[in-house]
Amino acid sequence: MILIIDFGSQYNQLIARRVRENQVYCVIEPPTIKVDAIRRLNPEGIILSGGPSSIYEKNSPKIHPAVFKMGIPVLGICYGMQFMMSSLGGTVKRAGRREYGFAELRIKRQSGVFKSLPQKTQCWMSHGDSIERLPKGFTILGSTDNTAVAAAAHRSKHLVGVQFHPEVAHTPQGKKILQNFLFGVCGCKRSWSMKSFAKDAIQEIRQTVADKKVILGLSGGVDSSVTAMLLHQSIDKQLTCIFVDNGLLRKNEAAKLKTTLKQHLNINIRFVNATNRFLKALKNITDPEKKRKIIGRIFMEVFEAEAKKIKGAEYLAQGTLYPDVIESVSAFGGPTSVIKSHHNVGGLPKKMKLKLIEPLRYLFKDEVRLLGKELGLPDDLIWRQPFPGPGLAVRVLGEITRKRLRILRDVDDVLLEEIKDAGYYKKLWQSFAVLLPLKSVGVMGDERTYENIIAVRAVTSKDAMTADWAKLPHKLLGKISNRIINEVDGVNRVVYDISSKPPSTIEWE
Ligand code: XMP
Repeated sequence: MILIIDFGSQYNQLIARRVRENQVYCVIEPPTIKVDAIRRLNPEGIILSGGPSSIYEKNSPKIHPAVFKMGIPVLGICYGMQFMMSSLGGTVKRAGRREYGFAELRIKRQSGVFKSLPQKTQCWMSHGDSIERLPKGFTILGSTDNTAVAAAAHRSKHLVGVQFHPEVAHTPQGKKILQNFLFGVCGCKRSWSMKSFAKDAIQEIRQTVADKKVILGLSGGVDSSVTAMLLHQSIDKQLTCIFVDNGLLRKNEAAKLKTTLKQHLNINIRFVNATNRFLKALKNITDPEKKRKIIGRIFMEVFEAEAKKIKGAEYLAQGTLYPDVIESVSAFGGPTSVIKSHHNVGGLPKKMKLKLIEPLRYLFKDEVRLLGKELGLPDDLIWRQPFPGPGLAVRVLGEITRKRLRILRDVDDVLLEEIKDAGYYKKLWQSFAVLLPLKSVGVMGDERTYENIIAVRAVTSKDAMTADWAKLPHKLLGKISNRIINEVDGVNRVVYDISSKPPSTIEWE
């Protein structure tokens, strides 16, 4: 495995992705990690990430310099390189000019991380400091016009630094450079696969849980479904999943889940229909944040009451993914401002004195999908688009009534069918309908109508942090609009949302 030290770079998750794409396992840890802990991890190589700091700032992040003497190969990227060089006796200075963007890298030695690379290649730079003098034993491997020491290595070849970012797509030979480090310098083997992950995870869950009981909140989304399947295969009936139907789900959602997960896959699930309770509490509520708070609170109450019925439960399982873990432990990622309060069951384990197990906590979303496939989950579950916890409550703008929910459900069903038929479902991050709190005039046959307006939202995105409105073909949009107005009672107008995030958000509330 490879250990990645997080010096705060916006690219550090990308480094992890690149390593794992080569079927080499890796973990990201903060620079405060102790030398003993590194020894226990026993990595075959260490990658020091870039970061926004300058090494001569007083509180710049540092890792114990003993890492350079452990005999483990180290690759320093950008700030990571500067830290390596200055710790070993070199000097770093503020560069005459900040270098940001493409640069041509001229390679002086085509060995080590640069083995089999062309003599000239593009690289992506983003730095304000440069190496002025190298420590003893280091030689320059490559330069650019502005940066004499764009890459350098110790003669033992175990310590290498690059000023540019090999992990980004803008460095076309970056993949090859990382592969040279992983396989050539560190001697890693391609052994990380979802098959091996599943085998190890199942064993670990069995050991941890022993003969105790585990509870899992099932939402029907990819993460909780894969977690359920993994636990099911590990501990079978010691697992009880709780699915809370809040009355705000898509059409036939609960029924579909019952058929696939409970009947076909035989997972132990309790379905709780709490529709009345949720809808009663949401009566006359129009403020989005109030809606979220109410839904979050009732969810907790219902979930807790149901969980209490499972006598002797000691663990609560959650489908937390690696990006959330990294964000919450990152040495530098401060809390961002709350745009929308997302609810989760975070408060439960403490309150109920349950121990947490998070078997997906080292996986990225695409790996979770691969794992789901490996475990035998059907494709339509694995490839589901994200769906917000408060469900249709934040898509029925304004007041939530049974009638308005029914309209939105029927519309949404038509929309999804068309998006799937046209082959767009997997290509889009999300596609859904929103019921507006407005009415408009129309004409149907010879009659005047005064009915609801639907907004169709479809976006592409990598991580929901930013999103583009999808350029769906006009023909498809036309068909969607026609079908919705013709087939769903109570709608006489459909509009398409052409705003991106930021400044809009994906959901309308
Ligand atoms: P926004 O609307 O903030 O959404 O651009 C980003 C992503 O988060 C989802 N979302 C939620 N998920 N509870 C959730 O579990 C929520 O309250 C919530 N609000 C938005 C949204 O669907 C998108 O994927």
